[in-house]
Amino acid sequence: MKDYLHLRAPGNWINDPNGFIFYRGQYHLFYQHFPYAPCWGTMHWGHAVSSDLVHWEHKGVALFPSKYYDRNGVFSGSAVEQDGRLFLYYTAIRYQEQDPENIHHAREDRFTASQAMLVSEDGVHFDNWNAKRQIIPTLTDPREGDPKNTRDPKVWRQGDAWYMVLGSTREGTGRLLVWRSDDGLNWRCGGQCTDPAFGTTLECPDLMPLDDGMLLFGCPMGVTADGLKYPDQAMFARADFDPGTCRVTLREKMQVLDWGLDLYAPQSTLDREGRRVWLGWMRMPRPVTDPTGSRADWCGMMSLPRLVELRDGKVCFPVHPAVTACFDRPAKDLSPLREHRPVRLQGTIGEGEVWNVGGYRIRMRDGRIETDRSEVFAGLQGCRLTAQTPRLEEEGCALDIYAEENLIEIFVNEGRYVLSQIVYGLGQTLEGNFAALSTVE
Ligand code: FRU
Repeated sequence: MKDYLHLRAPGNWINDPNGFIFYRGQYHLFYQHFPYAPCWGTMHWGHAVSSDLVHWEHKGVALFPSKYYDRNGVFSGSAVEQDGRLFLYYTAIRYQEQDPENIHHAREDRFTASQAMLVSEDGVHFDNWNAKRQIIPTLTDPREGDPKNTRDPKVWRQGDAWYMVLGSTREGTGRLLVWRSDDGLNWRCGGQCTDPAFGTTLECPDLMPLDDGMLLFGCPMGVTADGLKYPDQAMFARADFDPGTCRVTLREKMQVLDWGLDLYAPQSTLDREGRRVWLGWMRMPRPVTDPTGSRADWCGMMSLPRLVELRDGKVCFPVHPAVTACFDRPAKDLSPLREHRPVRLQGTIGEGEVWNVGGYRIRMRDGRIETDRSEVFAGLQGCRLTAQTPRLEEEGCALDIYAEENLIEIFVNEGRYVLSQIVYGLGQTLEGNFAALSTVE
């Protein structure tokens, strides 16, 4: 099974991207996967590969919950290459007692979380049936973080050492834990960092070099809770990291990563050219029935790949050039969408102007980009319908919009702000002062 531009669930459910890495000439993207129904359940790692970040080939399930310690879920994690081998790290979940109403959930707080790893010789075989997976000695000291709610190891190598960030919580406040290792097998806890913007629990942290410091991605739970679905947000901040002590210090306030507020659990890696590239899970409130019938009802997809760039001291997230290169066919209207081909719209929007992309409204008001998906959200209740960016500092406002049947991604001033949202059933109406319209072959 193949996907183009956006990786979608190959049927049933996906959430977070995991183990994103360029390894032996190919991008590998694993993801949280429940292969039996289009809803969250006992987690597996699905696996897809690509040579260009655009054409994806699904490879099936890489990691099954097949060990005693991960029998209730192979949760999120990451990948590192060492001596030609692929090291995979994840959080292993075991329930002491299942919820009698739903076996995919634990009864109350009756579960154990541990960090685990395995080594694949080739990125093709993942040792599900042998005994080669292992538990990494886990956090036991509750003064560092709640061991039950410490998860999502993101590992990288720097100098001679290996480092791991984990999302955690302590006394109701989110925490970032940093571990250090000399060999990728034996770990000890080093630094910690906490901030009110880490919410009640921090999930899926990612710490990456940027300029003379680092950039932290993290998903605080509960920060923007407002009664609507999906209150938890992916956020970022520039940070300092001392590899000796593993101390992380935020340089600035955490900021929203994507103003559409549907993107979660972003994960980064280096692309073939050595640039920092990342993508995130687009949360979908309802599954989609594939019109061609070639896959089971599916729920969840990945965003387009984006870069990290520092421009005039501001962190920007432009779309990856491998994506823009695909849109080389001029288009007249939104009709390619009917053939499941995405459309790209480019132009400059002025104050007070409203664009209508298939029923999805984009307007500039008070120096901000505002969107409204109420017409193209299939009447779904309880989700956010409108979104807006902060006020732009720049004079003009250039929009680069990628629209497909279930997702609109708007890059404002080349990624200074990005606003991505799930939609259901875009129409064909197209109104706005676009300078260029294109589609893919
Ligand atoms: C984030 C998350 C992670 C966890 C995974 C489980 O969406 O909750 O913290 O590892 O999903 O599927």
